[in-house]
Amino acid sequence: MDSIHIQGGVALRGKVRIQGSKNAALPILAATLLTKETSHLQNCPRIADVYCMIRLLRSLGVCVRWEENGVRVNAKSLQTDELVLGNMPTEAVRSMRSSLCLLGALLGRVGAVTMEYPGGCVIGERPIDIHIAALKQMGVVFAEADGMLTASAQTLHGADITLPFPSVGATENVILTAVMAEGTTILRGAAREPEVVALCEYLEQCGARIEGAGGQTIQIEGTGQLYGTHYQIPPDRIVAGTYLFGAVGAGGSVLLERAPIQQMEAVLELAKQMGAQCDLTTEGLYVQMETRPQAVPLLCTAPYPGFPTDLQSPALTVLTCAEGDSVIEENIFENRFRVVEPLRSLGAQIELLDRHRVAVHGVERLHGTVMEAKELRGGAALLLAGLVADGESIITGCSYIYRGYENICKDLRELGARITSV
Ligand code: UD1
Repeated sequence: MDSIHIQGGVALRGKVRIQGSKNAALPILAATLLTKETSHLQNCPRIADVYCMIRLLRSLGVCVRWEENGVRVNAKSLQTDELVLGNMPTEAVRSMRSSLCLLGALLGRVGAVTMEYPGGCVIGERPIDIHIAALKQMGVVFAEADGMLTASAQTLHGADITLPFPSVGATENVILTAVMAEGTTILRGAAREPEVVALCEYLEQCGARIEGAGGQTIQIEGTGQLYGTHYQIPPDRIVAGTYLFGAVGAGGSVLLERAPIQQMEAVLELAKQMGAQCDLTTEGLYVQMETRPQAVPLLCTAPYPGFPTDLQSPALTVLTCAEGDSVIEENIFENRFRVVEPLRSLGAQIELLDRHRVAVHGVERLHGTVMEAKELRGGAALLLAGLVADGESIITGCSYIYRGYENICKDLRELGARITSV
């Protein structure tokens, strides 16, 4: 099922339930290593990245069992032999940047880990310098040999750490390490993303003492022992945003059940500027779009609560068929503009101004074609372009999309889209 076929130009109408959050589930799955007791994670999304994390956990001897409404994890029999930790399935570590959370979790549980560079990238190309500098302050010593990274600590101790940039992953790694360290850690310049808050909520339910999650300064008291818990993974704000932009681009009226609107302020603000009517109902977010989208003068991505980089490509798709000209500035990841080329093949007029900015001259119609997905959110953006464009579009490389969307074709079919995975 690597390609998706879409007959575009159909307005979306209906309702769909928003899945559990990928970016909350992944670090929380890593955090389950910190206790010997069972955690039950409800609403854990069944997506490729979660399966990949579970494979890594199982390779470490962790017992993971899927149940109807979630996943049950017990890390009592975690293998604590350092050599074994170094034997995590290489391609799983390489293919997923968030395997980096295992660094903090394993340091917290056993004080040492040897692993591949996550995401298959070397420092510099996809840096982990912020993680390393922060963890060093807590007593972690790093060594590098043959593409493997070894981290170990005689004693983990609290520290007063200031991050130079609010990296989500580095914030999560410091928290995962600090809950098991001796003493207090103060983390300044922390990421404020809702997924950091979810990780802290889970850890607090397990007995951790954390204050200030969601703000720039987080205080963590180290604790000797954590316990199992039941935790409900929150709904995925990026999936909700993707479907929202689908409705804004294709038109129609949709109800996004359980959409976490309190985490979507910047996204809703943009949708309104584009001409959508967004209303909060008791069931979720109701979006109505009956006109052609309006251009926006400047859309900038920024750390939370700013506009999320993960929704930049879906927003770009909408702006390609908006009335007027827009500029998008990408401030988090430089390689997000790989969708420009395939979008142009649909008739979009996009100009690369520099590595961080594109100018979009809205066109009245896009025309279906064959496009290749090369990454998760960019792939979802191409799929939205297929919904908006006239005629048939075929998206190949869809395994990237399935890394983050549980059932995107079924969800969009429920909204009336003519879409099938082949
Ligand atoms: C997380 C999300 C990802 C989202 C991103 C930004 C997960 C699994 N992934 O990724 O979906 O797009 O936050 O909201 O939660 N950086 C460094 N050095 C470091 C760490 C990061 O230079 O040590 C840079 C990165 O290259 C990037 C920026 O900081 O340019 C943001 O990275 P970060 O916030 O760490 O993103 P991730 O945690 O990888």
